Amino acid sequence: MATIIQKKGLPEIKETSEVKNFLNSRGIDYEHWIVPENSKTFTAKQVLNDVEKEDLLKTVNDKFELLKQKEGYTTRDLVVLHPDVPGINEMLAKFDKVHFHTDVEVRYIIDGSGYFGFLINGEKFLVHVKESDFISIPKNTTHWFYLDDAKRIKAVRYFQDTSGWVPNYTGDTTDLV
Ligand code: LAC
Ligand code: NI
Repeated sequence: MATIIQKKGLPEIKETSEVKNFLNSRGIDYEHWIVPENSKTFTAKQVLNDVEKEDLLKTVNDKFELLKQKEGYTTRDLVVLHPDVPGINEMLAKFDKVHFHTDVEVRYIIDGSGYFGFLINGEKFLVHVKESDFISIPKNTTHWFYLDDAKRIKAVRYFQDTSGWVPNYTGDTTDLV
């Protein structure tokens, strides 16, 4: 279950419907989609080969079908990050700065955890995402992302069109003030 961390002095938000309302009212779609038991043989492993990745994606294919039918998604892939991924720090450094995309950013976290930060109408907050959290960030929404100390996440990315997939940096700071 995702939690919302706000700037100092404001409460953390932990309750599912409150998290959902908080995000929805800022234009961010959020769903709690429980990762099925049969995904766990794959998600439990730190490293997955290509066949295992594809098998894991199949265990959550119903979500892809839903997104295809409802919203015209065409492709999906799986991101597997852990401390032994070569160049992980360089990879993470691309996204830990405030940026936006001209396409929606849609992620289903199926293992591990991380933080999405947002800057919306001058307000900054963090969303600590973990297993079973689905989040859809509208295009042109200013955000950033980093992993917590465990440095481990598995996330399905859904795309309507991969051509717009570049971070546009805004130069804003990530301090929650
Ligand atoms: C991205 C995230 C991690 O752009 O913000 O892929
Ligand atoms: Ni992004």
